[in-house]
Amino acid sequence: MRVEVADASPDADVLAVPVGPNGIPSGGDVPGAVRIAVEEDLAAKAGRTAVLYAEEPSKRIVLVGLGPADELDADAVRTAAAAVAGAMERIGGTLAWILDDSLPREEQARAVVDGLILGTYDPGRWKTGSRADHPFEGLVLIGGDEALEESAQRAGTIADGANRARDLSNMGANELTPKKLAKRAAEIADQHEHLTSEALGPDEFTKLGMGAFAGVAQGSHNPARMIVMRYEPPSPEGEIVLGLVGKAITFDTGGISIKPALYMEDMKGDMSGGGAVVESMGVIAELGLPLPALAVVAASENAVGGGAFRPGDILTAMNGKTIEITNTDAEGRLVLADALHYARTLGATHLVDFATLTGAMNRAFGDLYAGVMGNDDEWRDEIVAAGEASGDHAWPWPLHRRYRALIDSAFADMKNSSVRGQAQPTYAASFLQEFVGDGPWAHVDVAGTAFFTWGRPDYLTQKGGTGYGVRLIAELATKLSS
Ligand code: BES
Ligand code: MN
Ligand code: ZN
Repeated sequence: MRVEVADASPDADVLAVPVGPNGIPSGGDVPGAVRIAVEEDLAAKAGRTAVLYAEEPSKRIVLVGLGPADELDADAVRTAAAAVAGAMERIGGTLAWILDDSLPREEQARAVVDGLILGTYDPGRWKTGSRADHPFEGLVLIGGDEALEESAQRAGTIADGANRARDLSNMGANELTPKKLAKRAAEIADQHEHLTSEALGPDEFTKLGMGAFAGVAQGSHNPARMIVMRYEPPSPEGEIVLGLVGKAITFDTGGISIKPALYMEDMKGDMSGGGAVVESMGVIAELGLPLPALAVVAASENAVGGGAFRPGDILTAMNGKTIEITNTDAEGRLVLADALHYARTLGATHLVDFATLTGAMNRAFGDLYAGVMGNDDEWRDEIVAAGEASGDHAWPWPLHRRYRALIDSAFADMKNSSVRGQAQPTYAASFLQEFVGDGPWAHVDVAGTAFFTWGRPDYLTQKGGTGYGVRLIAELATKLSS
């Protein structure tokens, strides 16, 4: 999306006028009578709109509520922008947006861009006759300066990346196989000078000793891929090599410990963590950040073929630790075990993984917050802060060494699941911790936030993939670069 800034109302097709707690900002040239009629009513709820038909300079004026003062935050602006985009769908063209005084301008500008781009995402790509493009061509922010224009542009780059991650999540597993995801990673690498991509197939990852990953992969006819992307900027700053790790189960049947049928179709979204990592690497390269970054994405189906691994099997991970399989549906932690260890051996100093790992995280935090665990409170809090600043909401979730006893096995170093209906996200994280080596690591359980069974009543009203993680990663990488 093209973004510009201007001082006064330009000749845009639609003029958006936010109605915040302080009323209509200066520059919103709305006739007095209309103003009085709509102001109070609209201001009451973020995303409430009224379309006025004007003559010039804009053909339409969309008044949009920002909601009450004590609820006014970037999400309210995102919701308002998404509502304006919805109202514009019948109009199209360019949009001018008058910046309001109630939030810092940069935060507001970024939120407007987020709301417009994420809010107009169409998951119905497979409907015959569907339109892929945004309903509008460009955005003019009224009341901003050049620095604001740049950060709004960057927000656009990031939100476009999030929408591409949504495309990946929404593809059926017949279309998005592990091979296809590896192809997408290669395509992204081809577009950026300092980004490379490679993918290890079954022979290669088995030879490297990735027995946990291979165990999950062996039940499917679609061969797995361990995808590795490397971003090596020409003048790197600092000592950090950011290691992004993603779970990309292209379809999770549960394996022999098979899942119930209800909503099983949503398990095409079990690759959303990995999809977000792949697209984030493109965004980091596009933004030209001076931070070296490495991505390891474990792409596999968890299927029930005759070769499938079973409960009772004992697998040996790449770091030499042995795992008794007690539930083949706890496959995410198995593929991450080898991916995390591999990322560390490839030189990642700071690890963060994104995974739709536990149904319990979805039950606990629902669709709004991801839970973040880790072995280093400072690093975990950096991830949480990046999430909160970016719109990908994240909240710290405890991890304590005493939880580790719950995955003790009689036969092996650990088992991959516990039947106790307690602290499941934490057991999963305790398991992962066995494979992260030395140095900071954080785990983001995105089971509730990355793929929606139902839309959310804000700016992510669409069912399916949300692109969760792309904004968080871009924010984190930007912060680590400065
Ligand atoms: N992919 C699922 C987790 C999931 C569930 C994500 C619902 C999104 C929505 C994961 O592989 C899984 O099956 N986890 C099990 C682990 C259990 C068997 C220990 C779970 O959480 O039920
Ligand atoms: Mn599973
Ligand atoms: Zn899964």
